[in-house]
Amino acid sequence: MTSKFINPLTPQKKAIDIINYYFQKEREDDPLARNHARKELLNYLIKTDDGSYTLKSNEFQGKSETMHTSKGAITESLEKFIKPSLLDNKNDIKVLDTCSGFGYNSAALIEYLNIEHNTNNKLSMDLIEISIETLAGGLLVPSPISSHKLVKKAIEDKLIEEKFASIHLEESKIPSHIKFRFFSDDARIILKNLKSNYYDAIFLDPFSPSKSPELYTIEFFKQLKRVIKDNGVLATYTSAAPVRYGLIESGFYIGEGPVFGRKSGGTIASLTSKNILNDISSNDERMIALSDSGIPFRDPTLNLSGEEILKNRIIERKNVRGQYKFSSVVKAPIFLGEDLLMDKLGRRVLRNINKLNIDHSKSEKAFYLTCPQNQECICGCNQPKASNSRDRINIMIKRLSKLLEHNSLL
Ligand SMILES: C[S@@+](CC[C@H](N)C(=O)[O-])C[C@H]1O[C@@H](n2cnc3c(N)ncnc32)[C@H](O)[C@@H]1O
Repeated sequence: MTSKFINPLTPQKKAIDIINYYFQKEREDDPLARNHARKELLNYLIKTDDGSYTLKSNEFQGKSETMHTSKGAITESLEKFIKPSLLDNKNDIKVLDTCSGFGYNSAALIEYLNIEHNTNNKLSMDLIEISIETLAGGLLVPSPISSHKLVKKAIEDKLIEEKFASIHLEESKIPSHIKFRFFSDDARIILKNLKSNYYDAIFLDPFSPSKSPELYTIEFFKQLKRVIKDNGVLATYTSAAPVRYGLIESGFYIGEGPVFGRKSGGTIASLTSKNILNDISSNDERMIALSDSGIPFRDPTLNLSGEEILKNRIIERKNVRGQYKFSSVVKAPIFLGEDLLMDKLGRRVLRNINKLNIDHSKSEKAFYLTCPQNQECICGCNQPKASNSRDRINIMIKRLSKLLEHNSLL
């Protein structure tokens, strides 16, 4: 069909225009407005490989990002968020769905646990989504799985409460053992008022760190730490080094999440080390601990803009690079303890290593730095291998600063 909305806006803005236009019509008592919106919106949705739909997002710094992976939006929910959250054998489950978008993660959880028909279990879902139009989009997209109809009903209730929608059209009934609460604001604001030690699982699903760094800062993670139960699990799809180190710095153990639809796995975090089933790779541990790539995002007042957070991190990385941390550019940390070929790359790595007063890649100091990753001590410290990625990263960080402070293995 031809669209009324043939303006030069980005797809996401066009979709938002459509949603605003037709919900305005609904508020003016047009009972068919939502049907029209549904048809119109289809022009801006992309079908992903598993048949579920996603919305093409705004261009940002020359890159455009879809809301979900093109490999399968609902499958990603299941593989990256639901299964790793270890909720299978829990009862009276409380989940925080941060950046809930169309509500796929919540729907996938209900489906996976088959909880709609299991009245012996209880589920409370708290969903945070800053954009009311995106929430409304969840009501309009074709449902990827049957449980999404419950989420749609809950979205409709919220939209009517907010006076964004005005007519009850969704026919599903939410069973009394499933509760939804929606919060439509910046997650940083909402988090401040959520109960401590409350959630069994947190789904952290913002756009990428380069687009939404404000939801990957140490300070935001500290809020997530406050609200998650000690044995709860946080899942996010990104494996970015600043995200992983931010989680560590705020008190979480971290591990590798499942790989689906993207090159690398996501990240699983918990305050309990036994909930971490897979360590991150030894190269990733080194890069986080020893290079500037691990410099986290910071937002001390929990209200900086994304641009400010990115800018501050660039400055901090520049200040530490070659002085307090290895440069991430040539990945020098992963060559420590290895023979270096004296080709172009090898010479660059060596220059980088030398900048931190380490003579060569197989020097005593190089072994001292990476020893925490070895089963058997390789540097004479005789410390047992730390049992998890977080502790190894923290020990390597301490060793590097000791080395730089004293220029010896004191
Ligand atoms: C990758 S999408 C999430 C997809 C979603 N989980 C789903 O099931 O459809 C990221 C979402 O984060 C929302 N968002 C961005 N910044 C936010 C913020 N500061 N607080 C809350 N939500 C935010 C966006 O509006 C967008 O819907």
